[in-house]
Amino acid sequence: MTALLVDRIGTLVSWDDDQPVRRDAALLVEDGKVAWSGAASAAPAADERLDAAGRCVLPGFVDSHTHLVFGGDRGEEFAARLAGTAYAAGGIRTTVAATRVASTAELLERTRWLAAEALRSGTTTLEVKSGYGLTVEDERRCLQVAADVTPHRTFLGAHVVPEGTSATAYVDLVCGPMLDAVDGLATAVDAFCEEGAFDAEQCRAVLSAGAARGLDLHVHANQLGPGAGAQLAAELGAASADHCTHLTDDDVGALRDAEVVAVLVPAAEFSTRSAYAPGRRLLDAGVAVALATDCNPGTSFTTSMPFVVALACRELGLTPLEAVRAATLGGAAALRCNDIGHLRVGARADLVVLDAPSPVHLAYRPGVDLVRTVLRAGEVVR
Ligand code: NIG
Ligand code: FE
Repeated sequence: MTALLVDRIGTLVSWDDDQPVRRDAALLVEDGKVAWSGAASAAPAADERLDAAGRCVLPGFVDSHTHLVFGGDRGEEFAARLAGTAYAAGGIRTTVAATRVASTAELLERTRWLAAEALRSGTTTLEVKSGYGLTVEDERRCLQVAADVTPHRTFLGAHVVPEGTSATAYVDLVCGPMLDAVDGLATAVDAFCEEGAFDAEQCRAVLSAGAARGLDLHVHANQLGPGAGAQLAAELGAASADHCTHLTDDDVGALRDAEVVAVLVPAAEFSTRSAYAPGRRLLDAGVAVALATDCNPGTSFTTSMPFVVALACRELGLTPLEAVRAATLGGAAALRCNDIGHLRVGARADLVVLDAPSPVHLAYRPGVDLVRTVLRAGEVVR
């Protein structure tokens, strides 16, 4: 059993109950887990030492919402948006076509590349959704590809109704044969509850069918306009309602009362030139908030949680510490995982050493690669 001491930490963000943030700290890793943390002056002996030299140490980021498995590119669509064209849910079909013609090897290569990119920027846990296959075979294939990079895999067959199919027939397909085909591969189910995608009744059918198979629930809710998604997430006891850009006070109250995590994705709002989600309002109302990238080729082609944290501070009204908490502990809550997103004793030793003395620098130095070292389960991976 090798013990590694991360020593001379300037600021340790552990989310420990007694002292969530500690100055002049050290942290001991044993067997891939956090074994101790405390004042640097009281640090125990260890076989190996990582000198943080006054830098900041955070839990690894938990990106609880991505769509990493896809073919093609929508750079031209993004450029058109810069010239004033609005985003619409129908753009998803462009990527569905490109994904269906991509070979599994191509999808695997792209997904691994994006997962490696995410890891370099400090993401030690990723959730990945399907949703660009939309046939029984292609949805299964996308989740198989996702299985190469993460244990957190969400079936999003209800992303959009594919061309040439009626909505009713498609929802039946999703609720039956598609869910059967992803059995054992998907750990959660999601539905896009939005004008141009699926209405509340259709989403309720898909999510209930997933819940009956023991899957956790996520909902793409209230992204492009007001709607039923957030209330539906609350009604069904979903783990998270994601996007939450357009919320009424009743929606906010329902999320709080049902303890649904609001997963906010400001990089999508940046890329679609949308208004931003009411992050401050949600936190002040007592809703649990997570931050995620929503990495996908249409609305948010970034894997960078540091960028998302910077946006959350600038545009959602979160303090840097609130943003880091949402990007770590918040993400873990959205995935219903207890041993990640924090560095309390017993946590998986997933951590990031920033080339900065405090987490404030994530927002203060936007666009700068501040991630110096990444440990996953105690192993140095960057
Ligand atoms: O989360 N809203 C639904 N899905 C994606 C967008 C997908 C796309 O445009 O390709 C999202 O923003
Ligand atoms: Fe999404």
